[in-house]
Amino acid sequence: MGKRKTVKEIFKMKKNDQKITMLTAYDYQFAKIMDRSGIDVILVGDSLGMVFQGHSTTIPVTVDQMIYHTKIVVDSTENAFIIADMPFGSYQVSVEKGVENACRIMKETGCNAVKIEGGQRVIPLVEKLILAGIPVYGHLGLTPQSINKFGSYRLRAQKEKEAYKLIDDAVLLEKAGVSGIILEKIPSILAKEVTEKVKVPTIGIGAGPDCDGQVLVITDLLGIDEDVNFKFVRKYANLNDIISGSVKNFISDVKEKKFPTEEESY
Ligand code: KIV
Repeated sequence: MGKRKTVKEIFKMKKNDQKITMLTAYDYQFAKIMDRSGIDVILVGDSLGMVFQGHSTTIPVTVDQMIYHTKIVVDSTENAFIIADMPFGSYQVSVEKGVENACRIMKETGCNAVKIEGGQRVIPLVEKLILAGIPVYGHLGLTPQSINKFGSYRLRAQKEKEAYKLIDDAVLLEKAGVSGIILEKIPSILAKEVTEKVKVPTIGIGAGPDCDGQVLVITDLLGIDEDVNFKFVRKYANLNDIISGSVKNFISDVKEKKFPTEEESY
């Protein structure tokens, strides 16, 4: 093994109160840049179905697509811990099918862990994966693969009953042996409670400042899609303007015969 971050080191970060940084990546260029910039963890999220393929949900993403993108990200990086999402349909049918698909993802990509959405209902699978030597990340709160059940991407666990269920699920995931838990779009106060209750690192997205780490979708952080304006996203750049401005400048330069110049020709 190289110098990639390990599960142990990420646990230690929680213990030492050092925040954990995680971003999504799906391709060579972005993965290489974020790895060289010092990101701790890269998640090859099934968000690729929305931000890369243009679907309205993550549901259509397949195991083969996850393998394709995860292998590229693994091969483009040296330092970050790499997690691959298990896409919808790859673990819901049976525990056996889930183990088989997780083994394929680990074997064919070289990633360091898989991520699974859900609490109590995925515990038998989590236990089996951990027995098989596969580190697992849980994902609670807004679980995009269940979008058709909930019908919206609104804030989750606002009501007491749902909040208690989420805490129970986090404890169950911890007992089953997960290496971390993603908390998506839940009240900050609940994320804080979960983070204090479990020893495994919590990584928040729209879950306030008290999680052990933060994750964002890379295209959101870079402001690539002008239609994305979630409250929890901080846009560190406006690449939409930069990209569309560059494309427009290229078009006008070519049309006006200003590109290429003598210096740009052989
Ligand atoms: O698929 C994904 O990118 C995710 C993050 C939003 C946590 O699950």
